[in-house]
Amino acid sequence: MINLQIALERLPRLSLAQLPTPLQLAPRLSEALGGPTIYFKRDDLTGMPLGGNKTRMFEYVLPRALAAGADCVVAGAAIQSNYCRQLTAACAQVGLEVHLVLRSVRPDVEQTPQGNFLLDLLMGAHVYLVENMGWPEQIEKIYQLADELRAQGRQPYVARAANQADIGLDAAAYTRCALELHQQLAEQNIKPDYLYVAAADTTQGGLLLGAKALGETYKIVGLNPLGRSAFGGPPAAELILHSAQKAAEELGLSVEISPADVISYDDYVGEGYAAPTPAGLEAIRLVASTEGILLDPVYTGKAMAGLINHIKQGLLKPEDTVIFLHTGGYLALFAYQHYFDFRGRITHL
Ligand SMILES: Cc1ncc(COP(=O)(O)O)c(C=O)c1O
Repeated sequence: MINLQIALERLPRLSLAQLPTPLQLAPRLSEALGGPTIYFKRDDLTGMPLGGNKTRMFEYVLPRALAAGADCVVAGAAIQSNYCRQLTAACAQVGLEVHLVLRSVRPDVEQTPQGNFLLDLLMGAHVYLVENMGWPEQIEKIYQLADELRAQGRQPYVARAANQADIGLDAAAYTRCALELHQQLAEQNIKPDYLYVAAADTTQGGLLLGAKALGETYKIVGLNPLGRSAFGGPPAAELILHSAQKAAEELGLSVEISPADVISYDDYVGEGYAAPTPAGLEAIRLVASTEGILLDPVYTGKAMAGLINHIKQGLLKPEDTVIFLHTGGYLALFAYQHYFDFRGRITHL
């Protein structure tokens, strides 16, 4: 079997992210939670202004778009999408125009460009706003837009998640994170029992494949931010498995990932995608005030709330070592500021 590093080197890649991202001990958070020992893998620091997990994926997807002769990229997601912001930045770096179909999620507070949406516009994205709708309907809008651009003589490349043909490539990009972590764990002599991550598809799929190819023994626990079968799509566990298998094909690795390898919890999403939960907001406050690390209300805050709940339930023991893969997203804080209660914290002199 060829090894993961060699397999990755065979895929065309553009260097866009600031790598390796730090692996950082969180002693005050670990103490506040009564153990286990928690480390943050800081993929919130990948660059592409203000970081995040998706930047690793564009290192592999943009060479494919350029090889296909694209002169622009079409994508779509929710209005505060971290994916779309990192895509817009990556495309700005390589000179590709970006067209984004953004779905309104909280129309009452989204009138003013803020957070990721503000940066999309600043970095030159063409934005098409649509009302809150199911994912299949939004995909239709994305492909309609691609057709219109084609009719104008453009060469659009449709990005994920609308273009599921790239699911394996996105996940393959995350095997590189598993490899980077493998090297850091060896250097720092850390033997984790678990890796916790906010994930619904390719991030966890890539981590699973990478960790298995490297013979890692830690369990990968995904906290799904979308809820069961979000937006009418397949359940997260299915997508994670599928993306890992497709990544193995992209890389030419004969590593089998089975349904039993996929651990994915739906229970920390609350009312649904992008709706903050009290436990998630409390987790953001705790991590910010003990470690100076910012989580977000849509993904990582809810994932940390899951980790904290697993400690409370006794699923994690004080002697365990846990890596929390920080996937980024804290720009959304600036679009959710009114959910935090700072009464009694500000004194007027
Ligand atoms: C901050 C953050 N965390 C986690 C995820 C989930 O990543 P994936 O869809 O690869 O599971 C996303 C996806 O947009 C994200 O923005």
